[in-house]
Parts: sequence; C-alpha cells; structure tokens
Amino acid sequence: MLHIHDQDLTSLNTLGLHSRARALVRYSAVGQLPLLTQQAARYGKVMVLGGGSNVVLAPLLDCLVVKVESQGIRVLDESDDAWIIEAQAGEVWHDLVAHCVGRGWNGLENLALIPGTVGAAPVQNIGAYGVELDQRFHSLTAWDLLNGRQLEMGPEDCRFSYRNSFFKQSEPGRWLITALRLRLPKAWRPALDYPDLRDHPMLQAGGAAVSARRIFDAVCEVRRRKLPDPAVLGNAGSFFKNPIVDAAAFDAVRKMHPDVVAYAQDDGRAYKLAAGWLIDRAGWKGRRMGRVGVHDRQALVLVNYGGADARDIAQLAGAIKADIQARFGVMLEQEPVQVC
Ligand code: EPU
Repeated sequence: MLHIHDQDLTSLNTLGLHSRARALVRYSAVGQLPLLTQQAARYGKVMVLGGGSNVVLAPLLDCLVVKVESQGIRVLDESDDAWIIEAQAGEVWHDLVAHCVGRGWNGLENLALIPGTVGAAPVQNIGAYGVELDQRFHSLTAWDLLNGRQLEMGPEDCRFSYRNSFFKQSEPGRWLITALRLRLPKAWRPALDYPDLRDHPMLQAGGAAVSARRIFDAVCEVRRRKLPDPAVLGNAGSFFKNPIVDAAAFDAVRKMHPDVVAYAQDDGRAYKLAAGWLIDRAGWKGRRMGRVGVHDRQALVLVNYGGADARDIAQLAGAIKADIQARFGVMLEQEPVQVC
C-alpha cells in the first residue's frame, strides 16, 4: 500500500483549496483493511477522501488521509422485479450511473453527473432532480477503522434524510464505506416532477416515449448549463443546504417576499426554502470576495477563482450566512463536510 508523507491535496478537492496532509494512503482492495486500521491507530486521526467534491479542507491536516480508489461494478442479484447492483466505493458515481443506464438498469438517471465517488454518495445521501439516493439504496458494507471490523448496513442503519446520514453525523474518519448496493426495480417509471425536467425540451416527446437515456441526457444538459464544471472553476456543488423551516418562519419570509421559492414538507408543517433564491435575492449572485466568489449562474455555489484556501471560503460563507439571517431570519447550514 503506497504511503506518502506530506501530501499536497490541492488537486484532490474540487474546490481546489490549498491543503496539505501529514500522510496519505491509497485504498484499493479489502485485503488492505486490517493494515489500514493499524495505520489509523498510529496517526490517531484519519480522513476518508473520495472524489473530494463535497469537502472543505483546512490548509493543514494533521492526519492520515485514506484516498479511496477501489474499483468494480457487478450485478449481485437479479429477480423478477429488480436488479441489485454492487459497486466498489472508489468508482466514479457518474460512471456507475452511465454504466447502469447503458445496460437498461434504469432508476439512477436523475442522478447523472453528480461529482464524487460511489462511497461518498450515501454519506450525504446525494440527490438531484427529484430523486435521492436512499430511494434506490439496498445496503452497504462499511469498515470500522477504529475497531477493525466489517459491517453490513441496511437503510435503517444508515439513517438517511435530506443531505444527511449516519455517516455524516459520526465521528470523522471512523467509517470507510467499501461497497454500495443499489436496488433498481424493473418496473421503471420516469421521475419527471422536478420543474427543470418537466419543462425540458428533450423530454416533450410524450410520457410513454420518455426513456431513462433521454432523462440522463436532459439531466446532463441542465447540470452543464447551470453548474460550473469543477475542472474549469473550483467548486463543491451546493455550498448550503436548502433550509427547512417551520410554517411560522415560512410565513414571515413570505409576508415580505411573496415570490419566495419554497416546497411544502410534512403536509405543510414545514417548508424547504430554496437557499439559492434567498442568496440571489440578497444580491450575492456573481459577487467576488478576493480569490473566491458566488457563481454567476447559481447563487448556491461558491467558487474558487484560484489560489484560495479554507479561510477565504469561511470568510465568504460567513458573510453570506450573516446577511441571510439578517434579511430573512433564516439560518443557512453548510452542506460540504468541513475537515480540519
Ligand atoms: N434560484 C434562484 N437563484 C439562484 C439559484 C436558484 O432564484 O441563483 C431558484 C431557482 O429559480 C429555483 C430554486 O431556486 O426556483 C431552486 O433552484 P434549483 O432548482 O437550481 O435547485 P437548488 O435548490 O438550487 C438543489 C440541490 C442541488 C441539485 C438541484 C436539482 C441542494 C442544496 N441543492 O439545488 O444539489 O442538483 O436541487 O435537484 O439541495 C448539491 O447538493 O451539490 C447540488 C448541486
């Protein structure tokens, strides 16, 4: 197992933040896991890194970074009504989606082009265009780096909710997700409720003719149009969660801003507000603060124009949060994991 000391992580996080780690090892096969546990104990602190697309890395990480690079996709089981697909954690998420759609194993098409790896997908319960990972989740295998044991976990164990899971709440560096299993029902129905898809010109052929491949292509088109490509402009996707507020807080915002974009939850007892709308309305879209800024097409995305580190991002994020709190009385919560 290749072990590198004093590793530069700038090219290993999609925000492109300057960051160095005390050491890095690359994980590619389950046989390495017991050794990884020994090394984790030696370093004390561990950070598990996938595609680096949902993290804000501090300038100096005094820990062992485990870069997950295991590969493999297979059909684990096929019954009359579903395929169970198993993918190793280091696979690129989008490649898994393309692989499945290409073979007619439909159901992941709405999640096309989400950056990151398979192993990271359950951590934040990735979601887009009306579908969340937990709707396709079957089970996963995780390695407990602290106690050196393997665990099979089902949906209840993972405690999924909006951009959240057991893993996002656990102590950092304890769990390494090694494999993910998805259940893709053969009775496929397109999920076209999300406005960007419902109104998409590529999907106007009429309900029955809409295929998973077309949805895949439409989602890729929308994402390429709306979201900056991390290879061109450093970013970590949505930087804030869409805040969920109670009916009273929603009413207070709506009274002042009748056009606020919000989605009713739990039969109208709570509302998910579009954070992008709030930040946009507050005038932040396209604004720059030194080496970082707010993307000019999507106010929910913070970008690195080059040379930034976590302190630049914290300053901008802090200013946005304070402003949104003052204007709308709403607390924004950071979505990417803060690693310090
Ligand atoms: N809006 C604005 N101005 C903006 C951005 C958005 O007014 O600058 C408005 C839009 O017009 C729309 C509403 O806000 O009415 C929602 O915007 P959009 O549909 O673009 O989605 P979002 O809420 O900004 C969420 C996810 C994205 C996901 C999209 C599509 C979160 C935090 N973000 O964004 O996820 O791709 O929906 O499903 O839930 C990610 O998590 O990294 C991510 C990109």
